[in-house]
Amino acid sequence: MTSGGSFYITTPIYYPSDVPHIGHGYTTVAVDALARWHRQAGDDTWMLTGTDEHGQKMMRAAAANGVSPQEWVDKLVANEWFPLLETLNVANDDFIRTTQERHEESVKAFIQAIYDRGYIYAGEYEALYCVGCEEFKPESEIVQGTGPFEGLKVCAIHSKPLELLHEKNYFFKLSEFADDLLELYRTRPDFIQPESARNEVVAFVQQGLKDLSISRSAFDWGIPVPWDDSHVIYVWVDALLNYATAIGYGSDEENFARRWPGYHVVGKDILRFHAVIWPAMLMAAGVEVPRGVFAHGWLLVGGEKMSKSKATGIAPATLVDTFGSDAYRFYFSSAIAFGQDGSFSWEDMAARYQAELANGFGNLASRSIAMTQKYFGGAAPQPGDYTDADLAIQELVAEAATSADAAVERFRMDQAIDEIWKVVDALNGYITESEPWVLAKDETQRDRLATVLYTCLEGLRALAVLLSPVMPDATGKLWGALGASALGELGAQPIREAGTWGVLPVGAETEKLQPLFPRVDAE
Ligand code: ME8
Ligand code: MG
Repeated sequence: MTSGGSFYITTPIYYPSDVPHIGHGYTTVAVDALARWHRQAGDDTWMLTGTDEHGQKMMRAAAANGVSPQEWVDKLVANEWFPLLETLNVANDDFIRTTQERHEESVKAFIQAIYDRGYIYAGEYEALYCVGCEEFKPESEIVQGTGPFEGLKVCAIHSKPLELLHEKNYFFKLSEFADDLLELYRTRPDFIQPESARNEVVAFVQQGLKDLSISRSAFDWGIPVPWDDSHVIYVWVDALLNYATAIGYGSDEENFARRWPGYHVVGKDILRFHAVIWPAMLMAAGVEVPRGVFAHGWLLVGGEKMSKSKATGIAPATLVDTFGSDAYRFYFSSAIAFGQDGSFSWEDMAARYQAELANGFGNLASRSIAMTQKYFGGAAPQPGDYTDADLAIQELVAEAATSADAAVERFRMDQAIDEIWKVVDALNGYITESEPWVLAKDETQRDRLATVLYTCLEGLRALAVLLSPVMPDATGKLWGALGASALGELGAQPIREAGTWGVLPVGAETEKLQPLFPRVDAE
């Protein structure tokens, strides 16, 4: 893969109606790790995240707390959503809030543009609305309520009653875009990933599309419709536009041209907004569609989607306080196949922490460095002739680096980690078989001992580079302890060349390494 091209990637912008849970952390870490990988590969990378602050859900949350919507979002964003990024060690390049002027002005410009192009008309509407989804629900997503909601129609996702709304609205001619969308999915088969998500969207659009209500007049917490300020723009239309306004649509065309089009990573709950409505909006405005949309699965609790509306959310800080941000990032990047649902459990996380991080990677690093200190006074030794066992490690490192990069191209950091972990396991096996502690007792094996330890250190050099997007803290410590700082900062090591052998200079001064993943009290 060549480096240098634009790589713009986004998370959804979350509703700060409430505090974040590990579902939000899941998407954000996934996007951050992908962005860090591309940044380190030399791609012209930009990572955006942010908050979606308008709409009825926000009005109600604010009212329930006796403050104005603006006060509510200011407080939640400052106290909860910004700190989340620190907690998870996220290196986002920007954070957009839909109440910012830079966003509001450009949203108006965009809506005016599609109005002027004839894609918006005034109409009347009556339908069932879910405030949790901020969406008029199609028949297929309406179910009969149970328990306290017996006899009522409820949202299939939120299990809360729907509200019958009857309003004069402005409509977007979404129905006119069905054919163009199907053509897009056909000609660009990887526009929607994974395959299951693509199939679902294609089937949905094949049934034909209805026009979309894009304004509300019953309340005013939103961006005014530019030609009729008795309406505010529908919160989803406002929200989707963040991806364009944040990089300069309507304000900085040069930057917009540099970044756009980008990739969107979202949970499957909001796939249709991103894979149907958003590209249609862009087509209507004559703007390029995204490069792709990846829909991941849900974190489940007791078999159901973890959610704030059902109060099943676990705060990311709870896990980070115990395991640290690297372990959090590693766990959620590797334990669930990206694109599928997965159940989080504390036990599973604790077990993987111990097996993979502490005993696997951490121990490999500690003992390789400790033996270098013990047998060679700390300096990376000059390797002698390589044997088949050494060459097998070198080959594996090269393969892992190449396969991991290919997996990242497919948005599959979990598969990239699987590839990289083959090196961790192989090196641990290599140490067991080579028995450096036995070699050290025999002066005639001095050269062999040097080769074995150099192989371990150089393997760790490659692992530090390859794992830095996922575990920036631990790999940063390892980088220092390997004496690799002479090569420059870890974040500046070209990741697509991580598999090249022999980069760590002979004589590099290693330093004692405290355990990268100390024992935790996971009770
Ligand atoms: O939908 N498992 O915001 P939101 C995995 N504002 N991911 C989860 C999750 C779970 N249980 N729960 C939440 C909105 N997420 C809109 C988006 S974008 C233009 C506007 C993650 O606060 C996942 O990424 O409800 C999901 O799509 C997103 O949070 C929804 O966040
Ligand atoms: Mg939601």
